[in-house]
Amino acid sequence: MKIAIINGPNLNLLGKREPGIYGSQSFDEYFEILKQQYPQVDLHYYQSNVEGELVNEIQRVGFDYDGIIMNPAAYTHTSVAIGDAIAAIKTPVVEVHISNVHAREEFRKLSHVSAKAAGSIIGLGLKGYELALQYLLSRK
Ligand code: DQA
Repeated sequence: MKIAIINGPNLNLLGKREPGIYGSQSFDEYFEILKQQYPQVDLHYYQSNVEGELVNEIQRVGFDYDGIIMNPAAYTHTSVAIGDAIAAIKTPVVEVHISNVHAREEFRKLSHVSAKAAGSIIGLGLKGYELALQYLLSRK
C-alpha cells in the first residue's frame, strides 16, 4: 500500500514554529516513528512552501497511490488550485490540521479542501496523521 503525506507551507518548521499551537516535535522525527509503526505501508513524505509545487505533487501521486494525507497549511484557506487538484485526482485525500482551526481566527474556518477530501481530521495534533493513515488502511 502506497501512501503519500503532503505538507504545505511552514510545516517544515514544526518543532520550532509556535510550539504552543503546533507542539515541539519536528515532522521528520514524527515521520520516522510513523514509518517504524507501519512497516507494511510504503509511506512517502513531501513538503513544500510553494503552492504550484504542491499542485504538481498532488497530480504526480494522485493516480497510482492508494491514499494521500494532506495538510495544506495556510493554503487550505486560500488555494482554489489545491482544491481543484484534489477534485481532479483519483486517490482519496484525508485533510489533516494539527490545530483546531475552528477555535482560531475566523479566516481559518474556510477550507478549499474539505469539500473535495474524503474527510478531515482537525485539532488532534500530529496524531491526526496516524488516524488518517488508519482510515486509509481500513478502506483496503
Ligand atoms: C494548520 C492550520 C492552518 O490554519 C495554518 O495556516 C497552518 C497549519 C494546522 O495544521 O493546524 O500552517 O494547517
